[in-house]
Parts: sequence; C-alpha cells; structure tokens
Amino acid sequence: MGHPPSKQTLKRYGIRSIALLAFCTLLGVIITAFVTWIIAKSIYGTEERYVPPAKKTDTGPSASDLILPTSVYPINYDLAIKTYLPGFGYKENGGENKTLTFDGQVIIQLNITKTIRKITLNSLDLRFSESKCTFTVDEEPVGVQLEVNKDFEKVFFNLDKAVEPTDKAVLKIVYNGDLRTDMAGLYQTTYTNIKGEQKMAAVTQMEPISARKMVPCFDEPAFKASWTVTVIHPTGTTAIANGIEEKSEDLGDNFISSKFQTTPRMSSYLLAIFVSEFEYNERHTKSGVRFRVWSRPEEKNSTVYALEAGVKCLEFFENYYKIPFPLPKQDMVALPDFSAGAMENWGLITYRENSLLYDPRIYTGAQKRRVAVVIAHELAHQWFGNLVTLKWWNDLWLNEGFATLAEYLGTDEISDGNFRMNEWFTMDALWIALEADSVASTHPMTFQIDKAIEVLDSFDSVTYDKGGSVLSMIRKTIGEDNFNTAINHYLNEHKYENAVAGDLFNAIAAMLPDDVRGPNGAKLNMTEFSDPWTKQLGYPLLTATRVNSSTIKVEQERFKLLKSAMEEEKYSNPKWGFKWDVPVWYQSVGSKNIEMKWMKSNEPLFIHSEQPVILNADSNGLYRGGYSTELWQQIIKLIKEDHLQFSTQTRVRLIDDSFAGANAGLLNYSIPLDLLMYLKNEQDYIPWSGAIQKVRELANNYGTEPEKDVVHKFFLALSLKTPAKKDVDFVSKNYLDDKQFFDVSAAQGLILNVCFMGDSDCGENMVKLFNKEVIGKCDSDRILSECSQIPAPFRAEAYCQAVKNGNQDTFEKVFHWYKTERNQVEKANLMNALGCSNDILTLKKLMLDAMKKEGSAFRLQDCGSLFRKISSNDAASDSMLNFMTERWDEILERLGKDRSIFQRILSSITSTINTRGDLEKLRNFRTRVKSAEQYGIEKLEEPIEVAISWRETNQKFVTQYVEELTKQLRN
Ligand SMILES: *[C@@H]1O[C@H](CO)[C@@H](O)[C@H](O)[C@H]1NC(C)=O
Ligand SMILES: *[C@@H]1O[C@H](CO)[C@@H](O)[C@H](O)[C@H]1NC(C)=O
Ligand SMILES: *[C@@H]1O[C@H](CO)[C@@H](O)[C@H](O)[C@H]1NC(C)=O
Ligand SMILES: [Zn+2]
Repeated sequence: MGHPPSKQTLKRYGIRSIALLAFCTLLGVIITAFVTWIIAKSIYGTEERYVPPAKKTDTGPSASDLILPTSVYPINYDLAIKTYLPGFGYKENGGENKTLTFDGQVIIQLNITKTIRKITLNSLDLRFSESKCTFTVDEEPVGVQLEVNKDFEKVFFNLDKAVEPTDKAVLKIVYNGDLRTDMAGLYQTTYTNIKGEQKMAAVTQMEPISARKMVPCFDEPAFKASWTVTVIHPTGTTAIANGIEEKSEDLGDNFISSKFQTTPRMSSYLLAIFVSEFEYNERHTKSGVRFRVWSRPEEKNSTVYALEAGVKCLEFFENYYKIPFPLPKQDMVALPDFSAGAMENWGLITYRENSLLYDPRIYTGAQKRRVAVVIAHELAHQWFGNLVTLKWWNDLWLNEGFATLAEYLGTDEISDGNFRMNEWFTMDALWIALEADSVASTHPMTFQIDKAIEVLDSFDSVTYDKGGSVLSMIRKTIGEDNFNTAINHYLNEHKYENAVAGDLFNAIAAMLPDDVRGPNGAKLNMTEFSDPWTKQLGYPLLTATRVNSSTIKVEQERFKLLKSAMEEEKYSNPKWGFKWDVPVWYQSVGSKNIEMKWMKSNEPLFIHSEQPVILNADSNGLYRGGYSTELWQQIIKLIKEDHLQFSTQTRVRLIDDSFAGANAGLLNYSIPLDLLMYLKNEQDYIPWSGAIQKVRELANNYGTEPEKDVVHKFFLALSLKTPAKKDVDFVSKNYLDDKQFFDVSAAQGLILNVCFMGDSDCGENMVKLFNKEVIGKCDSDRILSECSQIPAPFRAEAYCQAVKNGNQDTFEKVFHWYKTERNQVEKANLMNALGCSNDILTLKKLMLDAMKKEGSAFRLQDCGSLFRKISSNDAASDSMLNFMTERWDEILERLGKDRSIFQRILSSITSTINTRGDLEKLRNFRTRVKSAEQYGIEKLEEPIEVAISWRETNQKFVTQYVEELTKQLRN
C-alpha cells in the first residue's frame, strides 16, 4: 500500500537474481489489472469529481453503485473504539464473550449541501445497534432506519423526512465488529514474547478501502474531515492514534480510555489506531516534533537506527518542502503481521518489522539500506499524500511516484550520502520501470479507476517506478530548483485539500522561468510535455545510426518486448500515437560532458559528432538507447579500453539497453554478451549489479534445461577476472561500515552469485561455515538469531547451502529453528533455506503448510516469498503449474485472503512456465475457473510468451556464443 513489500517488480527472469543478495526484497509487485475501467480521457485534469457510468458487469456491483453521493460531507468524526484483546482478564460485558471483537461509536458532524432523504456511508462487515443510532438537525431528532447493502459496501440511513441543506446535522452510530485476520481494517497481529507466551496487538490498515471495516464513514479520499479518536483498551496495553495523546482515564473495569487530539482534515485511508504492549524509543526533532519508534519489547534496541533515521529525515523534509510538519508527534511502529512494506498513516506510520527494525548482527547492508529507503518514502508522504491528497485513485501514480522520487533524497540524508542514492535510482526505479512498461499488458500511469477495489491492482511498478522516473526526468529537464519551488507552491495551494495530477503540472508551469525551453524553442509547455508520458503506456527506444562522418541520426519508436502482443483496446490508439517529445541526454565518447537536446515527437534528431554517442547518458530519462551494429561495436571497443570515461549510471544503462534490444529481437545477442566482457575491468557494484541481474535472467530463460550450466560457467569465469574485491573476510569485517557500502556489496554480490551458480568450493565453504558456526554452537533450544555466529551477509546463503546439501535431519533442524525464530530477518533467512531443499515432496509439504487455515508455520504476509522461493528452485519449478491447478480451491482458501499476496503467489507460480504446452494448460485453466480469471492470470501470460519465444529464438545461439566467450576468459 503505502510502500510495497519490495521495490522489485516481478521480472520473469530478474526476480530470482535478487534472491540471494537480499531475500527480504524478494516480494514482487505484479502488474495486473483485470479490471473493468473505462477510458474517459476528457475527465483527466479537470476539477470535477469523476462519476463513472452505471455499467453492469457480471462480477458484482457497478462502479456507480459503489461511489458515494455528493450531497453530504463529513466535517468531523468523533470516534470511540473499544478493543477486546485476549489475555487481559477484563470482565465480559453482560455475560457476552466479546474477545477478539471491538465496539464502536461514531458521531459524525455533517454538512448537507442538497435536500436529502437518506445518508449513505461506506461500511463493511460491521454489526449495527439500530436502536442506538440517532440523527439530529440543529439538535432536533429525525427518525432513521438502517439499511445495509453488503455488495455495495454501504449502509444507508433512511430519514423520516426530507432534510434541507445545513451544517448542523449530527449522525450517531453504534456498532461492533470483529478484530480481523486478513491484515485489513482493524486486525490482529500476533507474536510470541520472550517468555514464550502468545501475545496479540490490534492495528489498522486502511488504504485504500478498509476504513469502512472499522468505522462507517465516507471512505473516499476526497471526503476529508477531522477525526477525534478515543480508544478504550485493556489495562496493560497502550493505545496510539494519528493525534497526540490528550487525556487518559482508568475506567476501573480493567479498561483505560485514551483520547487523542483532533487531527487536521484528512482522508479516511490515513486513519490509524494501535493497541499493544509494545515499547518505544523517543527523541525530538529540532522543530520540537516528538518522535517515537515502537516495537515488541524484546526488539526495542533495534529501533535505534529507525529513530535516528526518522528524526534526520523528518527534519530534512521540513526543510525540503519548506512547510513545518503539521502534527506535534510522529510514531512509527514495527508490526509482526503486515501486508505491504509500510503505510504512511498521518502521524502513525506502520511497517513490516524487516522494513523498520535494524539489528547489525542480523541485517546485511542492503537490508539496512532498505530500512532507510522505506522510512524516507513514508515520511515524504506525510506532506505529499497526507497534507495534499489525490482526489481519486486514478492519480495514485502522483502520490507514489513522488514518494518514490523523494525516498532517494531522504535516504541520502539518512546515510550521509554513503548509499549514493542517485545511482540506485537507476538500478531500482528506472530499471524496474523500463522493464515493467515494455510489455503490452502494461497500463498508462494515469488510468481510469472506477471501482476503488481496482486500485489494489494499481499499486504496481508503473505507479511507483514509472511514476518516479517520469517525475525525475521532468526534474532533470526543468532543473532541480525550479522543480522544488513548484512542489512547494503545489503543496501550499492545496494543503488540507485534494488535488489531481494536472494541478502539479499547473504549479510547475506557474513557477517555470521563461528560459526553460521546450522542443519548439519556446518556453516549455508542461502539459504538452507530460501528457504523452503520463497518459499513454510505454516509452520510446531511441536508435542512433551514423549518416556521415560527422552526423548521427536518432529516431524513436515505442519499445516493446514482444511485437505480437496486443494492448488492451482502450490503450492501443493513444492520441499521441506512441510518440514522445524526448529530452535526449547524450555523451560523445571521449568527452566527459553530457549534453541535452530536445527530440520532437514527429522528427528525427541529428547530433553532430565524429565519435559514437551514448544515449540516455547518466540514465536521466525514461527511455532506452539503441544503436546500429556498427555503433554498438565501436562503443563496446571503447568501453573496454576505458570504462571510467562513463559514469556508473551510463555503464549500467548500456548493459540494460543492450540486453533489452537483444530480447526484443532488434539486436544480435552477440552484442550484449560482448559488452559483458568489459566487466573484466569493472570494480564498481552498480554495473556489476546490473550485469548479475542480466546473467541470471539469461540463465533463468533455460528453465531446468541443463544448458543453463553454460551460462553459469561463463559468470564464474568472468567474476574470477574482475578486480573487484571478493573475499568473505573483507565482507564480514566491513559490512557495518556505510562508507564501504559499495565495495562490500560488490564483493558480497559476487561471492553469493558464484555460490548460486553452482561453484562447488563456494557451496562447501558455506556448509563448513554452517557446521562450525551453527551446528557447533547452537542446539535446538536456542533461538538461532541469538546464537548463530555466521556474519550477517552470509547467513541466508550458508543456511541455504546446508539444507541443499544436507539430509532430512538438517532440514528438520532448520525448520525447527524457523518456527522458534522471533527475528523476522533471520526468519526470512531460514525460510529461504527451507526453499533450497532438493526434495520435491519436502517442498510441496512446505506449500501445504502455508495453505493451512489454522496453525500454519508461515505468517500470511510471508507466503508470497515462500512461493517465490520454491518456484525459483529447479527441484520444484516443473511441478508448480500442476500444483496450482490441482489445488486451486485449497490455495485460495487461506492465501486468497490478501489479494496482493495472492497475486504475488500466482505470478511466482506462472513464472515457471516456459513451454507452449504448459501455457495452453494455463489458458484452459483460466477459462475454466472463474476465480482464476478474477485474479488476473491473463496478464501473466505475456511474460510467458516472451520466455517461450526467447527459447525458440535465442537459446541455441546464446549457448554457443557464451561457451566461446568462456574459453576466451579462461585463456
Ligand atoms: C471468549 O472467546 C475467546 C475467543 O473466541 C476464547 O478464547 C475464550 O476462551 C472465550 N472466553 C470465555 C470466558 O468463554
Ligand atoms: C458546507 O458546504 C458548503 C458548500 O460546499 C460550504 O460552503 C461550507 O463552507 C461548508 N460548511 C462547513 C462547516 O464545512
Ligand atoms: C538493549 O541494549 C542495552 C544497552 O546496550 C542492554 O543493556 C539491553 O540488555 C538490551 N536489551 C535487549 C532487549 O536486548
Ligand atoms: Zn507510498
């Protein structure tokens, strides 16, 4: 939601390559949208609230059934929630057993703007006490009858008489509900404390449409109101909410009432409460904001990094936005159960434990960086998203794209620049965006969302990473100062209100100096520039060819991996015809300067240069570079001679673009493979990281075919030649030093991939390490994270190799340690190891365990990574499709509870398919099984087509060519 569990998109090939580097970043976000939205271009950018057409589909209510009328607005909610958590010895009310439920009462002050006969609110799974509900106008009671419509997720309050416009109307609603188990609304999160006792806390996750599961309300982002929240909670627990604590009262029956300060006007999806026995560390920012980071008591020490990072970052953003943080306090909480990565609730940000806590003994450098990134992302939202909020979900990209952009700024601040986040932008956001948007089944950044449920499917790489990359390109085009001034203007114009994407472009246009020129030489027109990027899908490939000794011609076409794949009809004929005005950054070989020239959508660009030019130098733009074979060969020769004349972001762009060109059939595969040979001289992690991903994609294309080994051997030979450090001791000694982050990452990445690619020495060393530092030191009574002596960067791999090369006894030991482990990062290491088993029956048993409705060893939140890991294991991958089709209903029962986790599972399973027969099987299954269609399986078929076509076209050639190169490397 606020932040996906990981920044990695589902890449059919690439995803596996991240596995060993950082298991916690494995969870993918898949691009899927099986939805029934309708394109209605005219409404974009207008001030009017969009009212979707009354369209019936065969799957439930229409969009207009779900939307709220605009005759009544909330002014303030006075909300009281009483939580019945188990284990606190309070008296049951009147003999009724309320454990695991909550009571609610909300008094809503309303602004009625049209004459009405009924009031409509969103509500789901709540039980109302109708006799206690009242409605008054100017303190005069008016009779009400309740009518619940579960399909519409609404409750209607039918009034005895018509009510004229007034802002003195008050609706009081009394109700109760269950503490949920699906990580949405007000839900249970459980853990075992240090004494081995089962504990439970209650917490909320509202975005996008779950506030209605805790409180009947106007659950659309445009209905902003203030919230006055009181939480009644068992003695022994603490409650927090968006507002700072105002007063606390012991009610005398083992309950405490905690009242919180009224919030500023905000959207319902940002509402949050939390009841727990957690503890916190506290500091204050320079501007006096009280900052607390909460965790299970035994992890309290692991909140220190987040607290420092949070304070630093909040101070940074106050400065960056030039608007003080609007609340007196900020809380951040690490939750044992959480669906996404984090959620930006105003003043009470919630996280997965692995995205907030930091323990230097257990976390790798990459995992530490992730904590910083997620914190920065959520804090960026406190202004951009919370203070100014999107009007409707079709502009989600603006919210998430901006936070994606800003997380890089915040993380540089947190790490004092040591994480060199600018370079990571190329590797994370841009890399993922270019990948995700290269298929026909993608969607434009701005796209119609009629039903709010559909927004669940749009928390994807296009929204986050393409959104961030387009904003980054705009910032680079107009200059950072101009961009920042515009952001400040936009926030001030719309604070405490809602905005549409067009408002941001208007703000930029309003603040833009005249000397910022567009493609026509006149002042840049922001809307003309941005619309083709935000409102049509895809992005351009610019191809350079030499026309004469001093001129290079650059032309554009849309980049698409599989020419034959069809876009959805509504996206297939955009008014810009898949052309863009492109700010072309380029570097002539031999010159260190990067220049920019506009390329108009309808004309080629001519560049005067006697040397080859590198397009999209520094990876500033959202487009790929392509070159004639002659130019490619010259570039490869030159980069082999002196790669340091190009920045790391330029080097890695060449790697990415060459493989993309070959994958799309535009380029002979010899080009990217020849280019990789320059890595003999490469020392820097950024290009290596890109190359590792590409080599692993290449290997994954082979499925379980034995020729895969040829690619692995090539990598082993290549990595032996690199001057980059690659010894275990160096990593173990230095991984805590942020200043050495890149050298350590390079060494770690090389070592782990050498291991992964089947180097037997590496595997043996890891098993030895395991035997010495785990088996030799820990018995089964110990919590593994507390006694394992393996340095953090190698834990996941050592545990994995131990299981892979070990017997059933080793597996059982590791499974036992998995079950007793309390630290979630160590637990992920152990889960990863379980998935390394070579035994298909064992792997199937793990999946069956994950499907158990009760008593599963795996938290629902972790099942996405479990399935991804198992799918990527050659021992299982050929069985995954049958497993899914045969057990579909069973899988759906538990794992279908959380839509996004279930989709991750589906994408993992289908990523194992690479034959026409299996694809046919999947298609038949989808057309036969209605629920499969609903989860968007159709969208997963295009990457399968890409994989099949790769094998048909390239496998033979690549195998031979790589074998040749390996020989050269060995000479
Ligand atoms: C009340 O319900 C909870 C959970 O449903 C159960 O664990 C507990 O034993 C029940 N308490 C009583 C007194 O029946
Ligand atoms: C009620 O709505 C009207 C019309 O939109 C607006 O002018 C007025 O300020 C609102 N009143 C309150 C108290 O929000
Ligand atoms: C936290 O750190 C302090 C000081 O370093 C130490 O005394 C304490 O035992 C630690 N607490 C836990 C729960 O690890
Ligand atoms: Zn976000």
